[in-house]
Amino acid sequence: MCSDRRKSIELNDLLKEKLFQAETLVADLVKNLESNNLLNVAQIHNSLNAITSHNHQIFLTMQQISTMLQNVEHDEANTRVTTNFPNALTNNAQIRNWLLTWPQIDELVKMQVPPQKRELFRKTKAANDITVSQLSAYDSAFDYLRGKLNTKSQGTDAEKHGCFADISFPNSVFLENIHAAYRLLLAQGVASQSQFIDVGCGSGLKVMQASLFFSRVVGLEYDPGYVNVARELLEQVHIASCDVIHGDGITFEGYKDFNLVYFYRPMRDPAMLNKLENQITSTVEPGTILFAPYEQFYFRHKTLNCASLGGSLYLAKSTQSQADALRIKAESTGTFYKKLLNVPPSIWDPIIKFSHKNGFGLDS
Ligand SMILES: C[S@@+](CC[C@H](N)C(=O)[O-])C[C@H]1O[C@@H](n2cnc3c(N)ncnc32)[C@H](O)[C@@H]1O
Repeated sequence: MCSDRRKSIELNDLLKEKLFQAETLVADLVKNLESNNLLNVAQIHNSLNAITSHNHQIFLTMQQISTMLQNVEHDEANTRVTTNFPNALTNNAQIRNWLLTWPQIDELVKMQVPPQKRELFRKTKAANDITVSQLSAYDSAFDYLRGKLNTKSQGTDAEKHGCFADISFPNSVFLENIHAAYRLLLAQGVASQSQFIDVGCGSGLKVMQASLFFSRVVGLEYDPGYVNVARELLEQVHIASCDVIHGDGITFEGYKDFNLVYFYRPMRDPAMLNKLENQITSTVEPGTILFAPYEQFYFRHKTLNCASLGGSLYLAKSTQSQADALRIKAESTGTFYKKLLNVPPSIWDPIIKFSHKNGFGLDS
């Protein structure tokens, strides 16, 4: 074997070893991040120290790999080395890319340690708050678009049944609650296979937006004219994970399949609204999150065996202390809600996936 080739193979083996070391360190880092869930301050402190030193070691390892890669590139036997590389190492440019993204991964780790409390809802509701003013303009614009989208008047059957027409709940408050609900589902460990239903979906705009947060979204609607509008909208925006069901929320028997049930006072008739609330609260699974933004439900929720989670969210078939414990757990999650894109695999995958499961991610 010529000396060039031998040198290349030795370098290749060294690289493989370094990559293996880096992978082991990443796994260790994730383990340390996981243990930060413990409330024992001393333990958190120790894992923080361990993580910090691991971060540094990964960085040093990567620097070594980078230097070696440069040597390989200047070596004439580079093509022969390539054939010996494990799959992940075949593309030098890819490894360079991993190295370049380390500062972002480091940033992702730093967002999580030490753990921080991030409230589910913003406190300020002052009328002259700049964000509140901007969101109020956004809500008006959105409502105008909804009016353009659904020009159908309410059907006579729906009116006789005691239904409200398609009146929209303010969009910014909807998103505020949906975002908080997503973090509660993260805390329950079910966010990656979450199911959302809007009982009385009208034109389907809320279902469309919920699809950004949940794995499967469904609109249930009594009025056949509105059902058509919602189906058309959801077809046009190509959302695969959603359905619009034509049916009556009072007799619907599928609530047990959903992690989040949204109902914005669908019925005008108080007795019929009571029936709808009874059906939802009695047939959901314990621990289902209910999003009911109207006064009557707030006044009835305790008698319906639900507990408040803040905003317009409730925990079904639960005590107030169970709801408080879930809210506190959710406050330790991050605020990142976007789905993980199908990006090419990288050495950082365990950290990215762990972070995503806890509501942390990078927006680039
Ligand atoms: C106040 S709008 C809510 C629209 C939409 N969910 C939103 O939040 O913007 C009420 C909708 O519920 C529908 N609805 C009323 N009673 C219903 C029932 N029993 N079953 C299914 N849909 C119902 C109405 O037809 C109407 O479209």
